[in-house]
Amino acid sequence: MRVDAVTDAIGNTPLLRIDPSVHGLRHIDLYAKLELLNPFGSVKDRAAWAMARPLLARAAGRGDIVVELSSGNTAKALAVIAGMHGLGFRSVTNRMKVPEIKDLLLLLGADIEELPGQAECLDPTDAEDPLTRMHRSLAAAGTGYLHTDQYFNPLNVDAHRHGTGPEIVADLDGRAPDYFVACVGTAGSSTGVAAALRRHNPGLQVVGLVAHKADFIPGIRTIDEVHEVGLFDPGVYDAIETITADDAVDGLLTLVRRCGTLAGPTGGGAYQGAVRHLRTVDAGLTGRRTAVFIVCDRVESYLSYLRERRPELFRQPARPTSTRTVTDAEAARAPSVDVGTAQRWVSQGRGPVVDLRSPFAYQALHIDGSINIVDELFAELLHGGLPFGRRQPVLLVCPVGEKSARYAALLTRMGHPDVHSLEGGIIAWRDAGGELVRD
Ligand SMILES: Cc1ncc(COP(=O)(O)O)c(C=O)c1O
Repeated sequence: MRVDAVTDAIGNTPLLRIDPSVHGLRHIDLYAKLELLNPFGSVKDRAAWAMARPLLARAAGRGDIVVELSSGNTAKALAVIAGMHGLGFRSVTNRMKVPEIKDLLLLLGADIEELPGQAECLDPTDAEDPLTRMHRSLAAAGTGYLHTDQYFNPLNVDAHRHGTGPEIVADLDGRAPDYFVACVGTAGSSTGVAAALRRHNPGLQVVGLVAHKADFIPGIRTIDEVHEVGLFDPGVYDAIETITADDAVDGLLTLVRRCGTLAGPTGGGAYQGAVRHLRTVDAGLTGRRTAVFIVCDRVESYLSYLRERRPELFRQPARPTSTRTVTDAEAARAPSVDVGTAQRWVSQGRGPVVDLRSPFAYQALHIDGSINIVDELFAELLHGGLPFGRRQPVLLVCPVGEKSARYAALLTRMGHPDVHSLEGGIIAWRDAGGELVRD
């Protein structure tokens, strides 16, 4: 295939039939739409190109910078597209959690602006979170930015309504599948593909997959987060189901080891979520059915994500001093204090208060005298053993008290007799009128 520009190679990805001996479904042919084979590596190449393309000439004339709220694949595709057109790219994010992706963006010449997340935005006089404020200021004309606006831009949906969806129908000889399963991030791909497929099969069943609330799966949202997305319409989905990071890794292993498909975690999650859903209907079927899921991107960017969750895959010993080993029941039993007790703790100087939030949130507002050890760094410290003397009382603080409870449970298990978590976190402290200071 000869192309004049690499963007001409976006789309027309293969539809791979998964061997039935792998998935075990008896009446359903399961296909994977291999979006990982797009030139910049993901399903977001289509959306990025569709959103940026109409605005590039004007932006180049004005010297505008391309900007997007993204910490992953959209940013990656836009960084390449901007560079190809002589434009700068800035990624604004509160979710830059995968080091390989951050490094790749820097390599591609992107600027990265990290902001505190919503739960961490703590100025009580400010009703808006930083991303909302950023979004509004970018939307104003004449800012010097080309803002692609993936969470609200209908061109994100159109890229899939006119591209991904019709390609699936063409590859199934003009028929739409009976089931379509996709992970939901901006909701662009699931909404656009579902619309195209329903034109051919109004009885199509669409399953949207979101991340379990306690889990981080890079690229997709939890059920709470998805409702903040402008493009998300619950009416698109016949079912919205949850996948865990473990599901995503299990599915990824099946795809990479048995199907020759070097899928990332959301591709794995989509496979696992599809098979789990389809098993519930398979037994009752008589005729044959067809199902399609999307493999969004590639595995190579997630090696540290995988190593952290499954060290044994990399011939590394399990990490017993990780909060991943803390059960929900253990976290619920972790020693904790309410805001009143915490206020006395601080005024009496009972022991260090450790704030586990990001440096941005800490700098914005924190409990006076507390020290900031960001979650990821604290996790590393614990692999070396107890970071505090056993006689030193410690109070742990996080946004809503969930993470700190897990750490309090873990430190207790490691033998610390006097470690506590602040119930309800910094949000409860703020809501109770507790004093917060700014650096
Ligand atoms: C790895 C990955 N999987 C899935 C998705 C979800 O796609 P969409 O944004 O179209 O809902 C994204 C979106 O960024 C992603 O990066």
